[in-house]
Amino acid sequence: MSAEAVYPDLAGRAALVTGGADGIGRAIVAALIRQKARVAFLDLDRERGEALAAELTEAGGTVSFQPVDLRDIAATQAAITVAREVCGPFSIGVNNAGHDERHAFETVTSDYWDDRFAVNLRPMMFVAQALAPDMRALGGGALINLSSTSWMKGSPHMIAYTTAKSAVLGFTRSLARALGSDGIRVNCVTPGWVMTERQRTRWVTPDKWDAAQQAQAIKGEILPEDIAAMVLFLASDAARMCTGQNFIVDAGTV
Ligand SMILES: NC(=O)c1ccc[n+]([C@@H]2O[C@H](COP(=O)([O-])OP(=O)(O)OC[C@H]3O[C@@H](n4cnc5c(N)ncnc54)[C@H](O)[C@@H]3O)[C@@H](O)[C@H]2O)c1
Repeated sequence: MSAEAVYPDLAGRAALVTGGADGIGRAIVAALIRQKARVAFLDLDRERGEALAAELTEAGGTVSFQPVDLRDIAATQAAITVAREVCGPFSIGVNNAGHDERHAFETVTSDYWDDRFAVNLRPMMFVAQALAPDMRALGGGALINLSSTSWMKGSPHMIAYTTAKSAVLGFTRSLARALGSDGIRVNCVTPGWVMTERQRTRWVTPDKWDAAQQAQAIKGEILPEDIAAMVLFLASDAARMCTGQNFIVDAGTV
């Protein structure tokens, strides 16, 4: 990004990012490393995760990658314990991982519904629970949870995803009250349609692209780095009086 801000207070701080191997999470990991933070990231995709960690370490960053399926809460807690030994204690946590598989209303089973929540909502609670003691001990911290404008638009073809993503906002608001007196800020970042590799290969068609451009006030691609820029601001003390809020980065769509 040609206009990336520098937040001096992020240098030397430790951040944990979920779903950091690809897409928006990858951009957040790289942006935090450019700010000279120590970064641990968790991801299901071992190959991409190890490659990214090697690339950033080679470039001089302090990075820890732990392969884990966030649907397994005990394994996630164990991975955070290992990550803490390398990079912690953590004062920044980014609940980024998500999975936007499409599904028709009629085909959703109770197992599938639970699985979508196990990916898109449940880990946020237990990652926050694992990081809060670090933040309390450090005198404060910042948690950032990723939602999606898809629930605001009522996107019909992924109802379990949109329902979970709307709950991210309720989770954020309650957690901000629960942790505010410990100096821990909790905010939500809500992206519009961001051009990650997965979106380009799975979901972009000429018709959908034209419709998105019609709907955006600002025309052009929303990039993972645009979301990372908002995450950096919220992670930094520059946002010290922002908590319990939703920050939309969608080029003016909703
Ligand atoms: N790309 C968009 O247009 C868009 C729009 C709105 C919201 N979002 C949100 O932004 C966040 C990042 O999305 P993205 O587009 O970068 O997705 P992506 O699919 O490009 O990357 C997601 C990463 O999370 C990892 N992941 C998925 N399930 C996991 C699991 N069970 N355990 C561990 N890791 C897992 C994947 O391996 C991948 O590395 C998500 O919360 C998503 O809902 C994205």
